[in-house]
Amino acid sequence: MYKIKKETKKNKTLNIEVLNLINEQLWLENHASFYYLKLSIDFNEKGFNGISNFFLTQSNEERNHMLKLMTYVMEKECTPTLPQYNFMEDDENEFNVLSHFENSLYNEREVTASIHKIVAKCKEVGDYTTENFMRWFVTEQREEENKFKEIIDNLKIIGNDGVGLYEINKNLLETNPVGPDSIGL
Ligand code: FEO
Repeated sequence: MYKIKKETKKNKTLNIEVLNLINEQLWLENHASFYYLKLSIDFNEKGFNGISNFFLTQSNEERNHMLKLMTYVMEKECTPTLPQYNFMEDDENEFNVLSHFENSLYNEREVTASIHKIVAKCKEVGDYTTENFMRWFVTEQREEENKFKEIIDNLKIIGNDGVGLYEINKNLLETNPVGPDSIGL
């Protein structure tokens, strides 16, 4: 089994509080990636191929967010902490499409709050480089939240059953085409 080296590169250029917050963010992005991966599998199992593709694409985006943060930390001659925890609990509740999107939005809002914490800390310690780097994430979160809000609003309008689910699944299939190319593989 792979073991993480005990000896790590001495952290050189990032304020330790900023580094700790970025490491927490890495964990959140990794968690989001696995959460959406699980939803992709669950929706596929239920026959919603469009929604499944949407969450697969989303999972891939979250992994890229984690990698973006990791490479930034290494660029700053510091050592990122590799997230170790991917366990996803089985959802005991009855399968409800709207609830999954609402939970996803809740999850995104937590991610946004965590990003804002990093930006606030950067301002406090005068780390303008990291603050500027984190701007991309601030914008990205706004887009992510809006994406989920739009799907939730549409589901509420056309209905969380029958025709509504058929339409949402069809729309998401059009915007999230099947195949490894769509997720950059
Ligand atoms: Fe990378 Fe949607 O948080």
